Amino acid sequence: MIVTIAAVVSADGKLTRHDEANIYQWTSPEDWQYFTSLIQDNEVIIMGRKTYDAIKGWLKPSLKKRRVVLTRDPKKHKADKHDGLEFTDEIPRQLMQRLSSEGITKVLVTGGSQIHADMLASGLVDYIHMTIEPYIFGQGRPFTPLPTNISLRLTEHKKLNNTGTLLLIYKVLKVRT
Ligand SMILES: NC(=O)c1ccc[n+]([C@@H]2O[C@H](COP(=O)([O-])OP(=O)(O)OC[C@H]3O[C@@H](n4cnc5c(N)ncnc54)[C@H](OP(=O)(O)O)[C@@H]3O)[C@@H](O)[C@H]2O)c1
Repeated sequence: MIVTIAAVVSADGKLTRHDEANIYQWTSPEDWQYFTSLIQDNEVIIMGRKTYDAIKGWLKPSLKKRRVVLTRDPKKHKADKHDGLEFTDEIPRQLMQRLSSEGITKVLVTGGSQIHADMLASGLVDYIHMTIEPYIFGQGRPFTPLPTNISLRLTEHKKLNNTGTLLLIYKVLKVRT
């Protein structure tokens, strides 16, 4: 199974502008276009509960994309559950093993920072697709909130527009926690 993290960050590595949950105030249409192509290209989307809370207003059940939300209290979200949307308290390794046993081969992890930390610490992430938007926020959610030591290899880079939005694709080489 190939596991990819997709994230858009400011030039100083923040996932959010200060505490604002709506990242689409500052991310570019070109990043959105790229992100939606990644969604289409993967079979299952995994996200943390806080990211789910931030985007649930935009989720369309009709899109038929399978999404798994990580939460320590799945029962609390019974009412939100519908075809293609599930809630689980499995640890990343258990979840990936289950998905793999169901024949899933491509998984996209769409944040937030706590989920990045858990997924990277589990050693299960193969690629990180990181868009860098030309802003500096100083404060905001970091890419990962925990100290870590991960080696990456840049495999592709692309300028997505004239304001300088950059797409960097990294292969995850080694996770030392
Ligand atoms: N720029 C970007 O690319 C990007 C991407 C995604 C999100 N974001 C932003 O980032 C913010 C959210 O990030 P965040 O770091 O605060 O939260 P998050 O990672 O989205 O979600 C954290 C929640 O996930 C659950 N969780 C974490 N580890 C778990 C585990 N091992 N097992 C089960 N559940 C687990 C817990 O939910 P419970 O509390 O329910 O137990 C925890 O509170 C939002 O503002 C969002 O807009 C930005």
